[in-house]
Order: sequence, then C-alpha cells, then structure tokens
Amino acid sequence: MSQTPGDGKHRAQWASSLGFILAAAGSAVGLGNIWKFPGKAYNGGGASFIIIYIIIVAVIGTTAMLAEFVIGRNTQKNAVGAFRQLNKKFSWVGGLGVFTGFLIFGYYSQVGGWVIYYIVSYIVCPGRIFADPKLFFYEMLGQNGFPWLGAIICPLIFMGLVIFVITKGVEVGIEKINKILMPSLFVLLIILTIRSVTLPGAAEGLHYLLTPDFSKLNFNTVLMALGQAFFSLSLGMGIMVTYGSYLKKEENLVKNVGLICTLDTIVALMAGFMIIPAVFATGVEPGMGGGFAFVSLAGVFEKMPGGPIFGCMFYLLLFFAALTSAISIMEGTVAYVTEEKKMSRKKATAIIGVLTFIIGIFYTLSQLYASIKGIWFDFANGVTFPAFGDFLEFLTDRLLTPLGSLTFCIFVGWVWTTKKGIAEVERDGTYTFKLKKIWSVLVKFIAPLAILTILIGGMVFGLALS
Ligand code: PHE
Repeated sequence: MSQTPGDGKHRAQWASSLGFILAAAGSAVGLGNIWKFPGKAYNGGGASFIIIYIIIVAVIGTTAMLAEFVIGRNTQKNAVGAFRQLNKKFSWVGGLGVFTGFLIFGYYSQVGGWVIYYIVSYIVCPGRIFADPKLFFYEMLGQNGFPWLGAIICPLIFMGLVIFVITKGVEVGIEKINKILMPSLFVLLIILTIRSVTLPGAAEGLHYLLTPDFSKLNFNTVLMALGQAFFSLSLGMGIMVTYGSYLKKEENLVKNVGLICTLDTIVALMAGFMIIPAVFATGVEPGMGGGFAFVSLAGVFEKMPGGPIFGCMFYLLLFFAALTSAISIMEGTVAYVTEEKKMSRKKATAIIGVLTFIIGIFYTLSQLYASIKGIWFDFANGVTFPAFGDFLEFLTDRLLTPLGSLTFCIFVGWVWTTKKGIAEVERDGTYTFKLKKIWSVLVKFIAPLAILTILIGGMVFGLALS
C-alpha cells in the first residue's frame, strides 16, 4: 500500500502503469481539448491546422513532456524540491510552475462550476437555455445581482470534489478516480461524435475537417497550434514533474510519453469531429470565442433531435475532463506545500482551496463586468484596466506556462544535461532510448526556440493564441 506524500518517510506511488497513464492523460485531457481545440481547428483552416498540430505534438510536445518526467522520476520530489535537489540555484524554476498552477486553479474551478450548472440546467430547464442562451449565461454570471450560483455555489461543489479526491491521496484518490472517469469520458465522446456526424448536413463539416486548406496556414496559426499543444499536454507547470515523481523506477518513460500524447491528441481530434460537423449541420454561427461552449452550442442542441439529452451528456463530458485536469493542477501545488512546508495534506488542500477560490470569484465577476457591464475598473473617466479574468488568462496561458516549459527544457538540456536525462530513461541499460540523439537536439535547441517564439509572438504581437 503506498502512502500519501507528506506523511514522513514514505512517498506515494502509482499502483499500476495503466493508473499512471490514465491520470496523466486525465490531466492533459481537459477544457483545452474539448472546447479550445475545435475552435482553433475551425479558425486555423481545419485539416491543415490539424496536420501542423499533430507534427508539433509529436516533435516538441513529446520532447518537453519527457523533460518533465525525467526530472520528476529522478528526484521523486515535487516541482520545487526536484529542481532544488538537482541544482539549488534553480528551485525558482519549479516555484514558477507551482505559482502558475495556483493561479490557473482559481479560474479552472470557476469554469468547472459553470459546467455543473449547465449539466443540471439541461436536465431541469433546457427550454430556458434555448429561449435566450446569452441571457441564460449572463444570468449565471450575475447579471441580475450577485452570482451566487455561478461564482460561489457551483464552483464550491466543483472544488469540494477536487479537494475530496486530493485528500484521499495519490493511489486511492487520484488514480482511482481517473480509472473511472477517463473510460467514461471516452464512451461519452464516442456517443456524441456519432450523434454529430450522423446529423443531416454534417458532411460539410466533415469535409472541412478533412480537406487541408494550406492558404489559411500562416505564422499566427502555427503559433496558435504551438500554444494549444503546450496547454493541452499540461506542460510548463511542473505537473508532469509531480506526476512523474510518483512513478516506479522500472517504468518505460518514452513509451508512457507516447501513449499520453496520443490519447490527448485523439480526444482533441474527436472533439473536433464532435463539434464542427454539428455546428455546420445546425447552421449555428461558428464564432468560437470564450462563450462558445456555453452560448453558441445551445443553438446546436436546440436544433438537434434529443438535444437536451445530448446537451447534458456534453457538459458531463466537459465536467469529467475539467475535474481530472483540475485535480492534477491542485496536486502540483499540494505536493509542494506538503513536502516543502511540511504541512498535512488536509491542511494544505484547505489553505490552497480558500486562496484560489477567492481568485476564482474575481475571475467570474470580471467576466461579467467585462462582457456586459463594461470594463472592470474605470477610474473617473479615463484610466481603465483590462478585465481581471482576461489578464489572468493572458498571464498564465500566454506568459507563465510557456516560460515554465522554456526554463524546464533549458534546465534539462543545458544545466542538468541531457546525458543525465538519457540515463534516467535508460535505467542502466534496462531500456534503450533509440531516439536519444534526436531528443537531445530537440530539448536543447528546437523546443526552446519554438517556445521562445510563442512567448514573444504572444506578448509583442498579441497574436491570437488563446
Ligand atoms: N491540459 C489541460 C487542458 O487541456 C489544462 C491544463 C494545463 C492542466 C496545465 C494542467 C496544467 O485543459
């Protein structure tokens, strides 16, 4: 029986290889796959975007994921402890990741709460959603008063579930829940994809997804694919360092990276085949902005036979995806606090929960202010501040996660050295890492360069990366 981290001598470990793969895939498969990817694939030219995305995941995503796993498995520590052990001067690299996770967790649990609100609403009052999807969404955000349900109660339920799983520990909590939720997610995804592609008029959407239009491919779409790949694979926050640290020494890291990246990409592609044909078939305006999953999709479910049932299934799918990712985000921070600050797992989750919940409330409120009540702050005519929510997303998705991946790759490539990374993969000859030379070049040069391009592109040119 393995123990939870922070209990002293023993450290937690995944009970099985499959359990680890599902937990890491559960982290990777999240809101990013199901609602961000289809929109980007649509805007980025369909098949041509998909081809570029797959190449990026296969070449750069796998490289960066392996870099995180070797650090975690080698040190058997949380993100901060791991870097500190390998080189004292670099513990801030892990700290940056943990801090990013802390911020992301705040808004991820708010959106998770909204998803719960929609699951229930599709059962209880689908008619109200269909009557005016936009109004329904804004009411949840608190258009007519304080958003008790949207910003407090539903996110609290979501966060409570995450905390419940985390306090149960790695093997009994995280591993078990992923073993149940991930297969369920696949079943729902298959049902919804079949529903979508068999709708009359879906062929046009399928054609769009399957015929490459390279004229839509430009610097911006390639950057968009890069940013999406890093977010979707949960890279840059040390989560894969933490999950890798619970791995047994005899595990084959390269094989695991391959499987996790493949699973994550399959889910993203299936989500594309679930949403885009349905959008074409029902003639809904495919503007894929932030409110797409909550507002525009209502039009799709309204026109679809059995719409409310499929709507409910869709939000259940989103819920499973969001829950398993949120668990991983919180685990990254909890592992740090329990191990480095010697706090009990329960206390750590409670403190992190409260602090991130406060950040989250501001996120929802700012969405409301930004979208309907104008700007977030308006200091007497003139000085205006960007909406807090947009700022938070910009800070985490565009700035901190790429920065995290960049520093991880540079650390493994140049500071700790790829020689030690390869030795960790090969485990004294237990495995042969056939692609070790290629990986070295990728982790030292290609991945950092690519990430640097996303970072600069996102900041200086404000390219459409989200
Ligand atoms: N990969 C998750 C998704 O696709 C999001 C995430 C990012 C989770 C970073 C953990 C760390 O939604």
